Amino acid sequence: MVKRSKGIKIATIGGGSSYTPELIEGYIKRKDELPIKEIWLVDIEEGKEKLEIVGNLAKRMVEEAGLDWEVHLTLNRKEALKDADFVTTQFRVGLLDARIKDERIPLSYGILGQETNGAGGIFKAFRTIPVILEIVDEMKELCPEAWLVNFTNPAGMVTEAAMKYGNYEKVVGLCNVPIGHNMMESKILGKKPEELRFIYAGINHHHWHRIYDKNGKELTTEVIDKLFSNNSNIMENIKFIPFIEEQIRDLEMLPCAYHQYYYLTDDMVKKELEEFAKNSTRAEVVKKLEDELFEIYKDPNLKHKPEQLSKRGGAYYSDAACELISSIYNDKRTDMVVSTKNNGALTDLPYDCVVEVSSIITASGPQPLNFGKFKPAQRGLLQLMKAMEEITIEAAVTGDYGKALQAFILNPLIPSGTIAKKLLNEMLIAHKKYLPQFKEVIEKIE
Ligand code: G6P
Repeated sequence: MVKRSKGIKIATIGGGSSYTPELIEGYIKRKDELPIKEIWLVDIEEGKEKLEIVGNLAKRMVEEAGLDWEVHLTLNRKEALKDADFVTTQFRVGLLDARIKDERIPLSYGILGQETNGAGGIFKAFRTIPVILEIVDEMKELCPEAWLVNFTNPAGMVTEAAMKYGNYEKVVGLCNVPIGHNMMESKILGKKPEELRFIYAGINHHHWHRIYDKNGKELTTEVIDKLFSNNSNIMENIKFIPFIEEQIRDLEMLPCAYHQYYYLTDDMVKKELEEFAKNSTRAEVVKKLEDELFEIYKDPNLKHKPEQLSKRGGAYYSDAACELISSIYNDKRTDMVVSTKNNGALTDLPYDCVVEVSSIITASGPQPLNFGKFKPAQRGLLQLMKAMEEITIEAAVTGDYGKALQAFILNPLIPSGTIAKKLLNEMLIAHKKYLPQFKEVIEKIE
């Protein structure tokens, strides 16, 4: 990328998010490799108060680190995007109240309700994709050379929409799940993550991985053995149920934490229904956690990222986002797991779709490492999930009811038929404020 002598400008959309201290901490850690000049945190009117609170904490963190970076807070997205070098996205359309609906409405039918999976994930895509397309259009006009680093969920689908329908190539999707796995599994092996090599392949929240030591010896089976004698949770946001040993051994790869929803659907629904009955679905828990975090952030003496942020599922996301930015800026060629265009790396999936895969991050973007073929058990599920994602994105862009229903019917976490249609209609009506593309459809079903 073109290096600017006046220093880097980074704009963060959804800057009022509780995750912002993660990002700032990540930039501070990399202060010697990232010549930052300006950080712009942008949010919408509804997020103004949070933006002020977390933005002021960001300013205190930068000042405490003895840096002269400018931290700007704004509600004007165009002003933030103008001449940016990197744009990071962490916004949530409809805020946590929309997530509560995504989780609670399916559960009221006895169907899994989750932020990025099943009906909830599809609706998050419906609300978010039109907004990412607006952002990409503005970027083409205001900062056409900038890289878009997307953390907004569902990260894979949002990234694919920006590439395919926004025709924006310089976009990379990010997730912290691989980091969570690397940390936990290194610990199990009594090693540090940098002493091991992890190879990931799949799509966002639906990938598998293998582990090697630095001499090339594969340790995957050893980790599988230890996992089953040492049941421990990986992600803060997912209720933990141990996988079924025989099935995982047959895969010969490690599943990701989100596979619990697909490999253990009944057990997961049962657990979630218990939380549903107590009004304590993950979204409701997060809402409380957020309130606590913002109270903590208000303290004028707080000048670092507080420990309590690690209770959020997205912990360590800064390591991914900031390392990615530094890798692109400095052509570091770091080995990272990102959502990027497949380009044939996963031969079982379409060439132009977005996959989540181990990649080398260069100045010209991620170069996905060739993975090749999956076993039939993985291939079948993965191809189904990718087709479901493609249809969801198309429905999000066009507002086509038939496609929305098709995505629901294809999704392995939603039963097909009458229930799918009833649930879809109820969710369309519940989220209508954030679904302008479905306006006519909603008027008909209301
Ligand atoms: C994980 C996932 C993210 C997700 C987060 C939810 O980190 O990778 O995609 O947003 O969990 O965490 P929360 O604390 O909001 O439930």
